[in-house]
Amino acid sequence: MVAKGPYNRLEGQVALITGANSGIGKGVALEMANEGAKVVINWVFNEESAIEVVEEIKSQGGEAIHLKADVSKEAEVQAMFQSICETYGTLDILVNNAGLQRDNSFWDMTLEEWQKVIDVNLTGQFLCAREAVREFMKRGVRPEISCSAGKIICMSSVHELIPWATHANYAASKGGVMLMMKSLAQEVAPLKIRVNSIGPGAIKTPINTSAWATPAAEKALLELIPYDRVGDPYDIAKAAVWLASDESEYVQGITLFVDGGMTLYPGFATGG
Ligand code: BGC
Repeated sequence: MVAKGPYNRLEGQVALITGANSGIGKGVALEMANEGAKVVINWVFNEESAIEVVEEIKSQGGEAIHLKADVSKEAEVQAMFQSICETYGTLDILVNNAGLQRDNSFWDMTLEEWQKVIDVNLTGQFLCAREAVREFMKRGVRPEISCSAGKIICMSSVHELIPWATHANYAASKGGVMLMMKSLAQEVAPLKIRVNSIGPGAIKTPINTSAWATPAAEKALLELIPYDRVGDPYDIAKAAVWLASDESEYVQGITLFVDGGMTLYPGFATGG
């Protein structure tokens, strides 16, 4: 769904969404295009799916390109930013979305499983945010485009808050994203650069298919969601558009949980 929306809240802006060829990233890319942004679809595996997202956006009258880069590799991230600036002149919005899981019991977790998750989920967000901040600082505010010099949205998780047994690497990466985001937000606020996170709950995407794909799994998952519905990428996309738009100009350094109440300790609805 990319038919021009009634708002065009991101008109004239360029948005990079990392890991945008599937799941939440794809949903955010489609919705930002729908709001008038030129969208850069970053991917690392499965070029075909990235091409499909670009074509879907173009078929609805939007503008998009796709760029391959492993966000955990400094040289690839820098080449991607250079290519964006060559194509579109600048960048206005970064959605630090690329992320993965390598689940294991703590005692069986390999250093490789630990490192891969930290590299992509945390270091990847650092590398992309650093390049974005450099570009925003260089360019400054263009009042006709946005009242901020740039916006960064970090895709965190309810697990920046909720401990998660057998996912210590993932929870540690998201806890790290939380304080990286807040420290950066504090540092660049005077430059009119806005930095915030979204904390999705359980959203139906390839990363967690086993948690909702069977009726039994979905029933168990719903025990953790007071709102009694598993989320959809569109739920996150709407929040991302708002955080990227001037409607949220005075919002700085927060995590906006979009989780159907998962962070409300649902066990206490009847226990305690
Ligand atoms: C994880 C999903 C999980 C959700 C809620 C997300 O950050 O990637 O696998 O379903 O948190 O626990």
